[in-house]
Amino acid sequence: MNIVVLHGQMHKGSTYNITKLFLDKLSTDSTEIKEFFLPADGPTFCVGCFNCFVKGEDKCPHASTVQPIAKAIEESDLVILDSPCYVYGMSGQLKTFLDHMGYRWMPHRPHPKMFGKVGLVISTAAGAGTKQVNKTLKNNLFFWGVPRIYNYGKTVGALSWQTVKPEKKLAIEKEVTKLASKISKHICNTKPGIKTKFMFRIMRLNQKSNDWNPVDKNHWGDNGWLSKSNPW
Ligand SMILES: Cc1cc2nc3c(=O)[nH]c(=O)nc-3n(C[C@H](O)[C@H](O)[C@H](O)COP(=O)(O)O)c2cc1C
Repeated sequence: MNIVVLHGQMHKGSTYNITKLFLDKLSTDSTEIKEFFLPADGPTFCVGCFNCFVKGEDKCPHASTVQPIAKAIEESDLVILDSPCYVYGMSGQLKTFLDHMGYRWMPHRPHPKMFGKVGLVISTAAGAGTKQVNKTLKNNLFFWGVPRIYNYGKTVGALSWQTVKPEKKLAIEKEVTKLASKISKHICNTKPGIKTKFMFRIMRLNQKSNDWNPVDKNHWGDNGWLSKSNPW
């Protein structure tokens, strides 16, 4: 099993430590984990050139930093995105990477392998905001085609992992154990549900009448998705 983790922060605070708990519970001897810490391992801000959409992802000026992460995502069975809540949203560094994956959204060129993966989004906040963070992270995974997405948000009531109360850490450990056992049943054993299938079919209709972006349309045609084939 392959797990890829995109950390929306560099430091090892509450968010990192909760993700680490999940990794400990989810991995076996044969698990390979690839971790990317943003912004160090990721691209700088999207410049809005549209090259990825209309010329191809290799034409992105930041392709050399985006593509190794994109490949690791494609090769994974479980995709984990984590972020502390910053002013009611995800961290800017994670958003910066996700912007570069716009070309992989279902209206453009979703990767066929995404439709068999499991996703997990994790966020922490001092007081409030994990729902907002996780909602946006889940949206990204959904539009990449990931059919089964779990979320774990925790209001830790602290600015650092060291100052999270021991009883809260115990509760976190219990919750993580329970959710990890649920998640592990579905890794390498997932198919799209009605929502993903419906969205994919709407996108197929869009692509059939696409007269503005041949790069996207060819992707759909090459995969056989303009006729009856599906990626699942
Ligand atoms: C720039 C910034 C903005 C923040 N915004 C919020 C917020 O909107 N809501 C909240 O409850 N906590 C907010 N926090 C606190 C963190 O989300 C919280 O302490 C989190 O658990 C930190 O995770 P970490 O230890 O992984 O860095 C903010 C922290 C920073 C640095």
